[in-house]
Amino acid sequence: MVGVNDLHAGFFDLVGNVRAMRRLKPDPVPEALIFKVLNAGVQACSGQNTQPWEFVLVDDPERKRWFAERYRNAMYTRFRISPDQVEGRNDKLARQLKAVLYQIEHMHETPYLLFVCGERDWPFKVPQEKRLGLAPPNYGAVYPCVQNILLACRAVGLGAALTTMHQVFEDELHEYLGIPVEYGVVVTIPIGWPMGNFGPVKRVPAETKTHRNHW
Ligand SMILES: Cc1cc2nc3c(=O)[nH]c(=O)nc-3n(C[C@H](O)[C@H](O)[C@H](O)COP(=O)(O)O)c2cc1C
Repeated sequence: MVGVNDLHAGFFDLVGNVRAMRRLKPDPVPEALIFKVLNAGVQACSGQNTQPWEFVLVDDPERKRWFAERYRNAMYTRFRISPDQVEGRNDKLARQLKAVLYQIEHMHETPYLLFVCGERDWPFKVPQEKRLGLAPPNYGAVYPCVQNILLACRAVGLGAALTTMHQVFEDELHEYLGIPVEYGVVVTIPIGWPMGNFGPVKRVPAETKTHRNHW
């Protein structure tokens, strides 16, 4: 009989090596590779197979600069990251923050900025009378697609990192990219060739997170 460890070993290696890659080279990435990745994304499941995702793929330097400026501002003011926090430090958190700072300062050089949008849809639990204003994007239906994209990037050797700070200036972003009001921007993923090495992620084992029959 085939043992559990013999099944699709490549997948299990890949899934444990999808780190947020924030240091990316400005070198061009073939568009065909991006569509390989996006077509892996759209294999994801969604409720009633509605496939409520749409992508805005930005490689125009002017638009990348526009986004990078606002992203930097949002990170410095809302996330409150600053270069002084990491000066002279080399601990784990500082190394991660340095990568975030690098990403902020080099966002405009990233070959592709991928905006994954999700159709707005009220969650079932929100009663009809409380459905006022715009519904949130259907996050649950879009994240499986996002994870497929991150896995596919890793599979083809591209670096990518999920970011969500565009939320701070989402209205402006909508207008600038011409995104219809029926959609929200769920994540922004800068994609390019990585500068560093892919490495294993550090996660708490599932056994520690699992409650048998009752929490
Ligand atoms: C919902 C969600 C939002 C995230 N938002 C950001 C973000 O705005 N900026 C960022 O640099 N990383 C963001 N991340 C990536 C996480 O910071 C990252 O996965 C985590 O620190 C673990 O690092 P690793 O994946 O490299 O192991 C986000 C991840 C998720 C799932």
